[in-house]
Amino acid sequence: MGELIDEAIQTVKRVATELRPGVLDDLGLADAIEWQTQELGKRTDIAFRFKASPEQVILDRDRSTAIFRICQEALTNVVRHADATRVSVSLKKGPSQVSLRIRDNGKGVEESQTLDPRALGLLGMRERARDWGGEVAITGTPGKGTLVAVSIPLARREDLHAEDPDRR
Ligand SMILES: Nc1ncnc2c1ncn2[C@@H]1O[C@H](COP(=O)(O)OP(=O)(O)OP(=O)(O)O)[C@@H](O)[C@H]1O
Ligand SMILES: [Mg+2]
Repeated sequence: MGELIDEAIQTVKRVATELRPGVLDDLGLADAIEWQTQELGKRTDIAFRFKASPEQVILDRDRSTAIFRICQEALTNVVRHADATRVSVSLKKGPSQVSLRIRDNGKGVEESQTLDPRALGLLGMRERARDWGGEVAITGTPGKGTLVAVSIPLARREDLHAEDPDRR
């Protein structure tokens, strides 16, 4: 019984870290994305650039997690599929929305690929954005590269309580 419980606890911990990556709590969204690009830069021959405006993007936990996950999938796709040499990532927080753009100079995703219902990675990105009332636009130009543009509206003050599960 003790062993089973230990195992269960380990599983829960593992799932929780995967749902909410520790770097986000430790670094905040902008630094976490920058960290991610630096890690990929070390492991690949791709040059990554990152810009955030303002430099520290303050955002609630759930939107941060959603954006970080979308970014990870988009960057993984660049590494796996794009044949790119350069990638630039920008994160911007405006008065009413937060936006993330990932632009690579690779072969360019084809529209038929972005519309393919079997493209679960792209589908997951869109679903995560949609959960927060946002959207993902994926545009490829053959031979020039791909742009993934994500925008998620910010919570209005009066919505914040409703989003906090402890206060429902
Ligand atoms: N940045 C990119 N440049 C070129 N092609 C891309 C890019 N991103 C995605 N693609 C193409 O779109 C397809 C769908 O992407 P998607 O992330 O849904 O699937 P995947 O990466 O093949 O598998 P997974 O479900 O593990 O993410 C990819 O297989 C690839 O052919
Ligand atoms: Mg993918």
